[in-house]
Amino acid sequence: MSDAKLIIDGREIELPVVVGSEGEVGIDIGALRGATGMITLDPGYGNTGSCQSSVTFIDGEKGILRYRGYPIEQVASKATFPEVAYLLIYGHLPNRKELERWLGSLTRHTLIHEDMKKFFEGYLPSTHPMAILSSMVASLSTYYPDPDPATDPNINIVRLIAKAATVAAFSYKKSIGQPIIYPRNDLTYTRNFLHMMFAVPTEAYEVPDVLNEALNMLLILHADHEQNCSTSTVRMVGSSQANIFASISAGINALWGPLHGGANQKVIEMLEMIQADGGNYEKYVDLAKDKESGFRLMGFGHRVYKNYDPRARLIKRVADDVFEQLGVDDPLLDIARNLEEIALEDDYFVERKLYPNVDFYSGIIYRAMGIPTNMFTVMFALGRLPGWIAHWKEMRDDPTSRINRPRQIYTGPTERDYTPVNQRD
Ligand code: CMC
Repeated sequence: MSDAKLIIDGREIELPVVVGSEGEVGIDIGALRGATGMITLDPGYGNTGSCQSSVTFIDGEKGILRYRGYPIEQVASKATFPEVAYLLIYGHLPNRKELERWLGSLTRHTLIHEDMKKFFEGYLPSTHPMAILSSMVASLSTYYPDPDPATDPNINIVRLIAKAATVAAFSYKKSIGQPIIYPRNDLTYTRNFLHMMFAVPTEAYEVPDVLNEALNMLLILHADHEQNCSTSTVRMVGSSQANIFASISAGINALWGPLHGGANQKVIEMLEMIQADGGNYEKYVDLAKDKESGFRLMGFGHRVYKNYDPRARLIKRVADDVFEQLGVDDPLLDIARNLEEIALEDDYFVERKLYPNVDFYSGIIYRAMGIPTNMFTVMFALGRLPGWIAHWKEMRDDPTSRINRPRQIYTGPTERDYTPVNQRD
């Protein structure tokens, strides 16, 4: 493809065009400021590519999502979460030997330093588990300094994935006043997590297959989503060469917001509100259309998907399985289905291409699995961890990457003289 031409004040400059492996086209404006003194302005970054990446491909118009080229439908139904983590981070599906080694090391590193357990004592029982997760992940850097790149460059990646699940489960146990349950090395990643969440020292606990399978799929569906808010945050922080724990901790905080990963908690709170209001979902669809109300249908809409979110399609199926196999009858599921049906036929939502996103049904499934509402975003974080790490690693391994430092168009006062306080009105 030929270069793009930009004409400014009658002056023409040529800007190279970059074409990705799926035919996505970007104009490389790297020379723009040097040649013209101007910058581009794109609040919210809707038109800005911040990097080139080979991790995940999304076609939002067609509803396509692929991890390292593999369709989400295939990985979600055939792979295990640790296998997908390896794929995202190292770029290829592990062979048998690589997988054994990977699973072995993820298992060996699940314990956290005993002293870290004392940290949990400092939090109030009401502390949001996302605050605990981000603080504990940042705190891991105090125990595990950057490794020697010559001997074991990836050890902190393994530690992070293995220990984050333990931290998440410990924070839940702390919040309900139960003793923590130590990890078990004879269990798989997902079974071990569910065991740490739901077992108690006084009785035997067998992880139900349906919970294990649902968790595996939910984690895979959340594992990466290219340059979303939290991943861009991880890249932003990591670009200053901050360590992996500090960079991921920042991503966890970015995920917490209700417009991003925090939406799964907000969806349930919204459905509960509709239920308490007599199940009048039409009223809330109308409210979401009224800009003055400040109310949005949580779990609807997406910056990139202008088609049904492929993850939501898969999650809906998991919801049906989980509810059927557990024999759960949750009125919130009916409210969610009715809300979806009405919104999908409503002109406001149709015109704006607003479909249910990954978070619309994930919370309902977690609720049926017995996971409390304030842990939903933590579950999202555990799933997204490999994606964050893959992007952090991709950036750090790229010798051409620079510190991320956007510019701005200044709109404040022009130069003026300082006035002493006794001369101010
Ligand atoms: N309910 C009602 N109206 C909406 C909604 C919604 N959930 N989402 C977008 N709109 C409207 C919005 O008011 C705007 O209308 P208009 O063009 O008349 O001004 C139009 O649709 C475009 O919305 P936008 O806010 O410009 O879109 P965005 O790309 O900046 O925001 C979003 C994307 C996901 C933040 C937004 O759709 C939203 O707030 N959704 C609810 C929160 C949510 O479910 N977040 C989870 C996202 S998926 C999980 C993840 O990856 O984080």
